[in-house]
Amino acid sequence: MNIAVITGASSGLGLEYAREVYNTRTELDEIWVIARREDRLKELQSELGDKIVPVAFDITDPQALANYVTLLKEKNANVKLLINNAGFGKLGNFDKLSLEENTAMVRLNCEALTAMTAATLPFMNERSEIVNTCSIASFAPNTRMAVYSSTKAYVMSLSRALRVELKPRKINVIAVCPGPMDTEFLAVANIGKGDSKTFDMLPRVNARVMAVKSLKASRRRKAVYTNRIFYKFYRILAKLLPHSLVMKMCGT
Ligand SMILES: NC(=O)c1ccc[n+]([C@@H]2O[C@H](COP(=O)([O-])OP(=O)(O)OC[C@H]3O[C@@H](n4cnc5c(N)ncnc54)[C@H](OP(=O)(O)O)[C@@H]3O)[C@@H](O)[C@H]2O)c1
Repeated sequence: MNIAVITGASSGLGLEYAREVYNTRTELDEIWVIARREDRLKELQSELGDKIVPVAFDITDPQALANYVTLLKEKNANVKLLINNAGFGKLGNFDKLSLEENTAMVRLNCEALTAMTAATLPFMNERSEIVNTCSIASFAPNTRMAVYSSTKAYVMSLSRALRVELKPRKINVIAVCPGPMDTEFLAVANIGKGDSKTFDMLPRVNARVMAVKSLKASRRRKAVYTNRIFYKFYRILAKLLPHSLVMKMCGT
């Protein structure tokens, strides 16, 4: 059975990924949507149809991950597309965030993404795709989002190395780098109006556009995708300039 697996599909970018995959990847038998809020996943199934299969679990829970692998085996799954999208950030200096907040970001954005990839890879074959939601925060360290930007630098590094390792298996890995999107991410991160001058002035990225364009880039077997000229330019700047200078220019 040919399937897609999308984490973080209950809101924001993940929801848009589910809609776009449903509309464009008609060769798939099932689209497994993963998040903790099962009611949201069921709503998505009602909106789109039975090809959408809610698989509600916390991807940081090792037992739930083991159950996911059992399900892949039982369904004889051939995973054509894995979208590792679940993630969160918290705004605040490292020493003002709690130990739990700082470590939970690493558990979800790094550890669970790595675990989902390792668990799913044995069920992938030629021409399959892995789409990792990264961020413009991966381009240079961000003060007041030190752990979050570090987790996304991990996602970028892992994606690029894995892409080369998986070339012989003809599996592409893309790191998708959105700028700020008006999703639940902002409330979860405690980023309201006035909390961050940088966030207030940065141009917004539309989650729907991001999903559509990044899936096209994945089909074209690209390594990294960022949209909007502003963020493409920032990516180049962050490659050319010392990060100490980039951090000063960006503020928080
Ligand atoms: N919005 C932005 O400004 C922005 C910018 C750059 C990058 N990004 C990245 O884009 C991705 C999507 O974020 P978003 O903006 O769409 O935020 P969002 O609306 O808050 O979506 C986050 C998703 O992750 C799921 N999730 C959180 N913890 C989970 C867990 N333990 N197990 C399973 N699922 C979990 C949430 O569902 P449940 O709560 O139902 O579990 C939700 O579906 C993230 O990786 C984020 O870092 C966002």
